[in-house]
Amino acid sequence: MVRVDLSGAAAFFDPAGPDYAAAAKAHRDLVDGTGAGSEFTGWLNLPARIKDGELKSILAAAQKIRSRSKALVVIGIGGSYLGAKGAIELLRPVPSEDDPMILFAGNGLSPDALTDIIEKLGDRDFDVNVISKSGTTLEPAIAFRVFRKLLRDKYGAAAKKHIFATTDSAKGVLKSMADAEGWECFVVPDDVGGRYSVLSAVGLLPMAVAGIDVKAVVNRAIEELKALDLRSPENPAWQYAAARQHLYGRGRGIEILACYEPSFRFMAEWWKQLYGESEGKNGIGIYPASVELTADLHSMGQYIQDGPRTLIETVVSFDKPRHAFPLPFEMGDPDGLNYLAGKDLGDICATAAEAVKSAHISGGVPNIVISVPSRDEAGFAALVCFFEVACAISGYMSGVNPFDQPGVEAYKKNMFRLLGKPGT
Ligand code: PA5
Repeated sequence: MVRVDLSGAAAFFDPAGPDYAAAAKAHRDLVDGTGAGSEFTGWLNLPARIKDGELKSILAAAQKIRSRSKALVVIGIGGSYLGAKGAIELLRPVPSEDDPMILFAGNGLSPDALTDIIEKLGDRDFDVNVISKSGTTLEPAIAFRVFRKLLRDKYGAAAKKHIFATTDSAKGVLKSMADAEGWECFVVPDDVGGRYSVLSAVGLLPMAVAGIDVKAVVNRAIEELKALDLRSPENPAWQYAAARQHLYGRGRGIEILACYEPSFRFMAEWWKQLYGESEGKNGIGIYPASVELTADLHSMGQYIQDGPRTLIETVVSFDKPRHAFPLPFEMGDPDGLNYLAGKDLGDICATAAEAVKSAHISGGVPNIVISVPSRDEAGFAALVCFFEVACAISGYMSGVNPFDQPGVEAYKKNMFRLLGKPGT
């Protein structure tokens, strides 16, 4: 399990401290299915279900793609791509020679970005994994039409063998097209919303193609979800949820997720969607932001240290870097760095993190540390399960339904009307 350290936030708590009784009630509502949106809590046992269900087919499809293609184009937006992208950047930042290139498309409407992806793809052999629970989202639908044509131009009648559709089990345009064309299908379960779906085929198929050991992810997630069922303030999900709600009640409306591993960048994007879409409604909610450290200390560091005191800083910290990196000695010490010679860069980074933490706390920013044992499949699974459980508890504590997203429809209505979609 991940560990949560609230010692850097304690000075900002009022004497009563975080409300663990409310966390207990929120947790009960979550597991008993008595909270709002309980029909979308299937992610709580998703890893166990997938292990006994689709996992074999996911692994077989991934193997097929890896053995015949040099690239996989993953088409999806929001919860239909951020988890896989986060996992792949975190765990496979440098692909091996055997790994197909993973390209993410359909997560915007920029003609230039789409052109860039097609150029990057070049004349490589490729497969497409189109992911959309509803099957009607405009951005992925447009990209999919483009890549279907590219597949047809390249493979003719065999194009259909290069398409894998991850969508609803029974309804939606994508499902109907898949049935009509004979594409291999994977399921986004009815009881799992997009932003909670990374441990379904939505995330697991692209991850497996990228060379991630998804069996290890699933096995670990099963264990983590069991451990996170702990009903006591020792539960790290309670600690995190209760602390951030407590701080929110004391004027801390922005939470910055920070990490000293640049490969974490898209995990932070996944986290932002999870928390932003789950909690930002009914006029309330912490605004989730992120920084990459130490890089952003040289851009956002000033604001964090000295700007309005509305921030919470949450640092995701991996216990050990993957690589030792001792700093070389240099004769004559021309850059004056020999005082660090022989020291490991990981230790230098840890010291910098300590210095940053105490500076930010003295600057008036409560600091929460989430420690993860390792930057590997087990660490990834632990983080995902932790953040999902904590998000649901935190959402219930604040009184919202953490599983809907009614606000997302407003722009779509306008956009479809302006684009002249029939019936709008
Ligand atoms: O979490 C969510 O529900 C959203 O972010 C969706 O994942 C996103 O809008 C894409 O929807 P769909 O998978 O239906 O194309």
